[in-house]
Amino acid sequence: MTEINKDPFDKIQEAVDNEMAKTFSKKTLHYSRNPVNMGRMNDPFGSAYIKGICGDSMEIYLIIENNVITEVSFFTEGCGATVACGSAVTVLTKGKTIAQVLSLSPRDIIDHLDGLPEENIHCAILAVNTFFKAVADYMFAY
Ligand code: FES
Repeated sequence: MTEINKDPFDKIQEAVDNEMAKTFSKKTLHYSRNPVNMGRMNDPFGSAYIKGICGDSMEIYLIIENNVITEVSFFTEGCGATVACGSAVTVLTKGKTIAQVLSLSPRDIIDHLDGLPEENIHCAILAVNTFFKAVADYMFAY
């Protein structure tokens, strides 16, 4: 297809993609468009909601059996970086024991995403804080 025959919306999308690629890693863009473990749970063993400093919120839901996180999901209506951070938290914690995830930090999320812009560091902090609040919810309940 020649440039002249391209759908105008394809051109706009291409321009947006090129602009986003200057700011975000390929992995962050991939997760933001293809979220992993995104969705609310009806009967989690632990859950949490935190509203971040920017007004975006994060929810984390956990199923924990024999001290192992067998299911974990997140939900946010926030930006793509927040979606990527929520996805990363679930990928890094699913199948791990509580003891194994106690050292999880925003740095782990940022490294997993191959970096985040300075203005989106708080997205990683929000995701990790919400995750630990959900773990605490589980620990106080059981
Ligand atoms: Fe505020 Fe992502 S949580 S922009």
